Amino acid sequence: MKVLRMMDTDLRNKRVLIREDLNVPVQEGVVTSDARIRAVLATIRYALDQHARVFIMSHLGRPQEGQEDPKLTLAPVAVRLSELLGKPVPLRKSWIDGVDCAPGSAVLCENVRFLKGEKKDDEQLARRMAALCDVFVMDAFATAHRAEASTHGVANYAAVACAGPLLVGELEALERALKEPARPLVAIVGGSKVSTKLMVLEALLDRVDKLIVGGGIANTFLAATGVHVGRSLCETEMLDVARRLMDKARARDAEIPLPTDVVVGREFAATAHADVRPVSEVRGDEMILDIGPDTADRCSALLQSAGTVIWNGPVGVFEFEQFGEGTRTIALGVARSKAFSLAGGGDTLAAIEKYGVEDGISYISTGGGAFLEFVEGKTLPAVAVLELRARG
Ligand code: 3PG
Ligand code: MG
Repeated sequence: MKVLRMMDTDLRNKRVLIREDLNVPVQEGVVTSDARIRAVLATIRYALDQHARVFIMSHLGRPQEGQEDPKLTLAPVAVRLSELLGKPVPLRKSWIDGVDCAPGSAVLCENVRFLKGEKKDDEQLARRMAALCDVFVMDAFATAHRAEASTHGVANYAAVACAGPLLVGELEALERALKEPARPLVAIVGGSKVSTKLMVLEALLDRVDKLIVGGGIANTFLAATGVHVGRSLCETEMLDVARRLMDKARARDAEIPLPTDVVVGREFAATAHADVRPVSEVRGDEMILDIGPDTADRCSALLQSAGTVIWNGPVGVFEFEQFGEGTRTIALGVARSKAFSLAGGGDTLAAIEKYGVEDGISYISTGGGAFLEFVEGKTLPAVAVLELRARG
């Protein structure tokens, strides 16, 4: 990645426009998970220490283009950001034609997606953003897969365009895990559908030594080997694809260890009764809702001997206690492992928080879609434009 870095850019007394991803969950006006806010503090502190005038941009949710939706105001984010920073970061409602901000202080610009043209990467809007600043810093890794005016267009027209430390850190962690990983490389891919993770599974199977699957994805793989999965979530139209993926793994001596025991329930509910069964004994009226204890222990053992671990997606319905043991064992296994471990995706982060294993994971990505697209091998447009600028 050849990009100009913020740390190598002169910010002293400059007007610095920083695109962050502060798209966090908000309930009744209060931020309910501030992981993405905590992740940007170092970037902002650095710019403030350089006596820059700091304007922070972010989106929140998916408002109707050109409309101000009071439910999607960044006001709650401004409150939490100010608390965490220990400095007031006022929200500026109208900012696109100029922002008032003293050197060494920061303001938060209202939701960029309230502006017409943001989603479509409109050139005129991008030029207006660029005109606000001397230096544009792209730091929003989690939105780097979107070519929008505030993530992509503005980088074309700003006098200087560089990558912030969060973006750089995320890309370096992904490259470490994927380019020349310490072996064995073990990936864990959970979630409900093979179809939505197909590109990720394909890309990982070119690289991994072991691919642990969980959730509905594992059910589809099991069904593809002839196991009766009862009423489990399973994509019957993907059975051939699952077989092809298993062939692909075999061809390069990679392993996809399928569950040998599972936790089943008769209903998808917090009150459902849970039973552990060998996979061969799942009944017609049952649903697989977690991997079983033997499978979880076997996966955990694989994680202990791994050199690198990439984790995306829970292996069971961990929102319900009785179907959360598999995901808990995996979470603890990743944390205990000495491997370089990288985790990404909203559900994965929720599991990491729930089981309190943050400290044992080498790098926790703030990205969901961006994380997956990078793993898929796709070019992130917001990074590509910075590379273009760096080439001059
Ligand atoms: C995310 O939460 O994945 C990012 O903030 C991107 O949001 P978007 O999918 O609405 O573009
Ligand atoms: Mg660890």
